[in-house]
Amino acid sequence: MVTTQLPEIIGFGDGSDSDRKACLLATFLLLAGGLIARLAQSYIRNLPPGPRGLPLIGDVIHIANPEWLASPKRKDEYGDMMYINALGTGMLIINSQRVAVDLLEKRSTIYSSRPHYISVGDFMTQNLAFGIVPYGDRLRQFRRVTAEIYSKSTNPSAPERHFHRHAWSIMLSVNYDLPPLESEDDPCLVEIEDHLRRFMREIQPGTRLVEYFPWLKYVPDRFAKWKRDTQNWFIQDSLMFQRFLGKVKDDLANGIDRPSFAATVIKSQSKHGLSEVEKAWLVGHLLAAGGDTTSSGLEWWLLAMLMYPNVQARAHAELDEVVGRDRPPTFADIPFLPYIRAMVKETLRWSPIAPFSVPHASTADDWYEGTFIPKGTICLQNMGVLNFDREVFGDNVAEFDPTRYLDEKGRVKMQMGGREEGHMTFGFGRRVCPGRYVAEGTISIDIATLLWAMRFERPEGSQGELGVRNRVQSGLTAHPVPFECKVVPRFTEAEALLNEGLSMYK
Ligand code: HEM
Repeated sequence: MVTTQLPEIIGFGDGSDSDRKACLLATFLLLAGGLIARLAQSYIRNLPPGPRGLPLIGDVIHIANPEWLASPKRKDEYGDMMYINALGTGMLIINSQRVAVDLLEKRSTIYSSRPHYISVGDFMTQNLAFGIVPYGDRLRQFRRVTAEIYSKSTNPSAPERHFHRHAWSIMLSVNYDLPPLESEDDPCLVEIEDHLRRFMREIQPGTRLVEYFPWLKYVPDRFAKWKRDTQNWFIQDSLMFQRFLGKVKDDLANGIDRPSFAATVIKSQSKHGLSEVEKAWLVGHLLAAGGDTTSSGLEWWLLAMLMYPNVQARAHAELDEVVGRDRPPTFADIPFLPYIRAMVKETLRWSPIAPFSVPHASTADDWYEGTFIPKGTICLQNMGVLNFDREVFGDNVAEFDPTRYLDEKGRVKMQMGGREEGHMTFGFGRRVCPGRYVAEGTISIDIATLLWAMRFERPEGSQGELGVRNRVQSGLTAHPVPFECKVVPRFTEAEALLNEGLSMYK
């Protein structure tokens, strides 16, 4: 069956038997040649340590096992860098901040691209999704536009109660000036989440064979459902993002000029020269990148509150002392709430929001500390090891302890481990998260407001172990396994005061 279709599939030859055999042989030789060359490279040149796997195919078993890759035991076995090769793709797992900074920051000219994804990149998004845009002109444009707007001073709008809906509401408000979502079933949210689900599934290693056998992309559409699907999704998703942008365009045309990322991108069109579809995807994927990550951060924080009631009690005491009980906290209070600010940093350090960050890919051969890192190596930042480094964060790394970010006078430390944020959760170098100030601002005001009004408890008799190891991975992000939580108002006026505060934003 396969042999009769092959000449048509790979698109050359007249279909005769000898042509078919020649095609098969050529494909096999190309594939084997590539793999043998890679393998030879690994023996002749000194690749970083790591399991070598089987001849020709490499270590396909381990490369597809995130738990095995992420385990701190790998650092004990192989040191700060572990290199794995599978089917010709090299992957470098970075297990120390020093190596991450040396490669991804100091040598960022060659470590700032993303892996080449055929299905989710070339087909489903035409390489317009910000997080996977290859290093080059488009990335520079996207980052320049974003940096102008998502600066340190960005403050998101009104806080609400539900993390998921709330995080998306903030993103929709910052990006498109849309009002808070009334429900989880809002068509806007349903559409974006549908896109994100497909995006995350496509990006997951192992979803598509074509990522390992790139010649499969030449299979005609009629034989490849994945190609038809991803191409249709590109049209469907482009229309969605263009529709969101179109609403802001119409508002501007009608003299309604309210601040949003979309409005700024539209107004600065002549300066940046982005095409219509580039603008639509830029704003759309800033939204997509921010919603799921922020809501994951808040979920992990809530889990920490149930696990560490003493930490929660200390935050309550700080809020009572600094803000009092007559009004909810505002952004203006945040600089005067060092324990809450330290808690935000600790939440970002402790939570496995994006366990391997977003992979970088190298664009040139490189030598580092006597080892050879071939061009095209996929570099994974192992957050569970980087953010749990005892030398940087102290011996109690596994505990949720905001005081690690406070000095002896109770002030927030200016930096930790040489980093202003005090953790590595936002990534490195030229691909560092451009939404980090929005994320920190959102999480700070949320945590302050929620703790001001409420106490969170684990209901008696709840089953299951709580902890960062119990997680559900969806694409690049991870959420806690669902858990029960009891919410207790801290004082009777809290709800009325919150509603009063919220009405100011409507
Ligand atoms: C807790 C919340 C967040 C976390 C933990 C987070 C984390 C990250 C990480 C680890 C990266 C990859 C960095 C690297 O490659 O070295 C990244 C990239 C990115 N983030 Fe965030 N992020 C968060 C919130 C946001 C928000 C709110 C936005 C938008 C407003 C955003 C927009 C982006 C974009 C567009 C990229 C891709 C940048 C590029 O590829 O050059 N993120 N983020």
